[in-house]
Amino acid sequence: MKLSLSDPVLGIDEKKALCAVIDSQWITMGDRVASFENAFAHAHGAEAAVAVSSCTAALHLGLLALGITAGDEVLVPSLSFVATANAVVYVGAKPVFVDIVEEDCPHLSLSDAEAKCTRQTKAVIVMHYGGYQVDLAEWRTFADQRGLALIEDAAHAPAIGDVGRIADVSAFSFFSNKNMTTAEGGMVIARNPALLETIRSMRSHGMTTLTLDRHRGHAYSYDVTMLGFNYRMDELRAAIGFTQLRKLKTWNIARCASSRHYRNVIADYLPQCTVPFSRTHTTAAHLMPVVLPENTKRDRVMATMRENGVQTSIHYPPIHRFTYYRGMFPDLFLPRTESFSNRVLSLPLHPMLKKEHIEYIVGSLAKAIENA
Ligand SMILES: Cc1ncc(COP(=O)(O)O)c(C=O)c1O
Repeated sequence: MKLSLSDPVLGIDEKKALCAVIDSQWITMGDRVASFENAFAHAHGAEAAVAVSSCTAALHLGLLALGITAGDEVLVPSLSFVATANAVVYVGAKPVFVDIVEEDCPHLSLSDAEAKCTRQTKAVIVMHYGGYQVDLAEWRTFADQRGLALIEDAAHAPAIGDVGRIADVSAFSFFSNKNMTTAEGGMVIARNPALLETIRSMRSHGMTTLTLDRHRGHAYSYDVTMLGFNYRMDELRAAIGFTQLRKLKTWNIARCASSRHYRNVIADYLPQCTVPFSRTHTTAAHLMPVVLPENTKRDRVMATMRENGVQTSIHYPPIHRFTYYRGMFPDLFLPRTESFSNRVLSLPLHPMLKKEHIEYIVGSLAKAIENA
């Protein structure tokens, strides 16, 4: 048995979509990117979206377009992928790491965020850990009361609840382990059309026309109106994305069903473990985190699970503990983030997972904990 943490679901539809792009002889940004953007925007109740090369690029462009710059501070989770904080550093601003609420709710803590606000604070980035939606209405009020921009790192949470509907900028990832994939890729939604247009322009060097427009003879030259980047998505990725998006809601439902089954089996066989987000939450069920009992030798548990064919992972090592960030913030201590990160373990979760797989995984975990 080999049960990986997250398997992309790729098949005949994606093959056909890729072949159609090859047949069209146009592989860089064009009509398929535009169709994918429209469909993705529609799935989030938005008018428009901008496809980019990654969620990291999406966060970077979002911060730039909002005017976040050197001397500014941005509140960020430390319990996230490093890209959430890196994007803040790219624009010369200072990431201010905020602790989580509690073990059962490893989202950004509002009270710690409040305590860490200064006159330099210009934005807050919330992250829907594991696909569980943060309370966006609460964060909107927090941001509005302080004149901050609200950015959501929605890498784990496409097409659920209020995601993409309330924040100033929403950044999505289509990396291969995400709920839908384009191999590498990302998307930005911004509710303010002018902001989204700035992001669209910055995605492609601030140029006023696309290669496709010139190829079709709709334009002969171009101007560059701002400093931009090559953060474009290509037609091959967009074609896969368009195909995957059609199945995303069904996959999200399958992930939620698997998460519920996990919760029931864990409650029966591993009552000493806790599963975060025990209260009802809107979720895309991206991750299946369990918090192991205190003093469990997690490395040994992971090694035994691997021997039994079950891949596990840790989401996440705290960003502020990485060497690079430790150099910036040597004395920073986030007690709840650090304690959670020391004990959390992610179990396999993807739409193809079967009930018997879940029972096998939890059985293996129970034995691994007993023998660790
Ligand atoms: C929470 C979070 N933010 C940002 C990213 C970065 O996404 P990408 O790899 O598309 O740049 C990831 C990807 O793993 C992520 O999980």
